[in-house]
Amino acid sequence: MTESLTVKLDSRSYPIHFSSALAKLASKVNELREDNKSICVIADAGSHEAHPNFLIQAGFLKSEILVLPSGEKTKSIGCLNQSLRFLAEHNLNRDSALFAFGGGVVGDLAGFTAASYLRGIDFYQIPTTLLSMVDSSVGGKTGINLPEGKNLVGAFWQPRAVFIVADLLQTLPMREFSAGMAEVIKYGMLADKSLFRELESIDYINAQAPSLPSIIRRCCSIKAQVVANDEKETAISGGRTLLNLGHSFAHAIENVAGYGEYLHGEAVAIGLILATELSVKLGQIQESEISRVRAILESNLLPTTLKDPLPISDLMQALQRDKKNRSGKLRFVSMQAIGNAITSENVDSQMAETIWTRAGAK
Ligand code: GLY
Repeated sequence: MTESLTVKLDSRSYPIHFSSALAKLASKVNELREDNKSICVIADAGSHEAHPNFLIQAGFLKSEILVLPSGEKTKSIGCLNQSLRFLAEHNLNRDSALFAFGGGVVGDLAGFTAASYLRGIDFYQIPTTLLSMVDSSVGGKTGINLPEGKNLVGAFWQPRAVFIVADLLQTLPMREFSAGMAEVIKYGMLADKSLFRELESIDYINAQAPSLPSIIRRCCSIKAQVVANDEKETAISGGRTLLNLGHSFAHAIENVAGYGEYLHGEAVAIGLILATELSVKLGQIQESEISRVRAILESNLLPTTLKDPLPISDLMQALQRDKKNRSGKLRFVSMQAIGNAITSENVDSQMAETIWTRAGAK
């Protein structure tokens, strides 16, 4: 099996390590120390508690680790301030490096901290959740949320390397694991129908599943290719935007319900079913595909409707602020077939309102 993959971005290309990733991480930490480079880590409290010796084993000192609370609320201006000041207190300079140890929240926050501190320092990702292993740790999207919307502040700032230690998933709470499966299912839906079929044929995947390492690599390989072709999501159609299948709906849900009410992957799961409904309404796929998508989400213990109804007017307002929109018109990722996503421009807002009712919005 592949030991590592490369995200090909010319001089900013970087590896995603799968095999012996802890040893490779330890050797990187050692190399930085030998070169007299200062290092710090921003760590998620839950991951640090579940694996108290991991960072020490990798060669970090306790004093170099800033532990931040788990949960979406940490992707805030307040925690960004705390992280930047931690780096300044530790006298990090332009030669220094910051590591992120955690899921998407810590990865996005630490990445943006690295992008902003001294106008940018080196950054490494050590993802600890399935969601961050298959999606957020790769591709350089970093940022924080505002009360007005998810990920409204941020930068494209690629990591220097990503270290994927799949054993870290053994302690991941089941709810978090399922949330990661939403992104895995997303890859099948947007670009890999055989992955989708494989997932359909397995009742349920957990951290012990023998197929999990190869599934993680497959998702990373799709992501690496898409990012290499459209790093900053500037393609007129298709491109990196396709990785956002279900995400316009998901971000609106997270914003309106209040950050942390849904895990990102849970909101993505609802978003995936709504994106499928939208594709049917746009005449792009058969209605029967909705039940296939619902079945795969449900067998992975993911929600397909809102737990409490949210106001459609608020959800529509949040959709209007989506970064994918162009010239004030709603723009979505939809599917021409499972495994073949496209961007759909100028989607009628009446249609979007109707779609929200399918998730139980009022
Ligand atoms: N998670 C979507 C992207 O990285 O573009």
